[in-house]
Amino acid sequence: MKKTVVTFAQAKEKGEKLTMLTAYDYSTAKLIDEAGVDSILVGDSLGNVILGYDDTISVTMEDMIHHGAAVARGAKEALVVIDMPFMSYQTSVYDAVVNAGRLMKEGRANAVKLEGGLEVAPQIKAITDAGIPVVAHIGLTPQSINAFGGFKVQGKSEAAAKKLIDDALAVQEAGAFAVVLECVPAKLAKLVTEKLAIPTIGIGAGADCDGQVLVYADMLGMFSDFTPKFVKRFAETGSVMVDAFKRYNEEVKSGIYPKEEHTYAMDDEVIEKLY
Ligand code: KIV
Repeated sequence: MKKTVVTFAQAKEKGEKLTMLTAYDYSTAKLIDEAGVDSILVGDSLGNVILGYDDTISVTMEDMIHHGAAVARGAKEALVVIDMPFMSYQTSVYDAVVNAGRLMKEGRANAVKLEGGLEVAPQIKAITDAGIPVVAHIGLTPQSINAFGGFKVQGKSEAAAKKLIDDALAVQEAGAFAVVLECVPAKLAKLVTEKLAIPTIGIGAGADCDGQVLVYADMLGMFSDFTPKFVKRFAETGSVMVDAFKRYNEEVKSGIYPKEEHTYAMDDEVIEKLY
């Protein structure tokens, strides 16, 4: 059965953990869906993981729609959330609603995610008023990396922790049905989780969040440009892939592959006439 915003609300109510992984293509989405993960995030981490950028700033609406639609085709049960890219919602409430609508219509999202707290509450309210479910994202928000001056844990001082709590309450009040907490001290994430009626989805925010999200290429050991402290590698797929690519390279060059079993037959009489 397709997971929905109701699945998220019920999980919070029952104290059941929610799971979310990123994906950017059809085949990966299908595998994650098959594994029973509750939600697939088409994150703008697409910029780093798939497109090879240093950050998420250059990711466009077209990128998100293109990859989002591929994921949506592969996700039969998981709830598909597509990230709103940099400057697709910060510019105005109008832009936010139009672009969220495009992610739903053209990207076939079930929900959209956007970064920021109090300052984007009007956008969250307008998008949810248009009937589009919103996941908020606070703490370390990678689209603001230039303002933060690097990837740093957020909310460590009393003032910063108070701001994080205010942001969490503001996005909930604006209508978000869940909120991602990124790179937040575990004790603060626990407090925020207790204060909110909507589920918190943590990434680098400890075990007391209502759910967890990871970038799939990080947890599979496929992306090695940088590995944040919070990532657990559930497999070393990267080295398995390199090994397979090496064997392919060697076997083709040495004539081991392909063998007869990998080829298509043809009647000798036909081929002989062509010589
Ligand atoms: O873009 C992304 O992958 C994200 C997750 C890190 C939450 O926003």
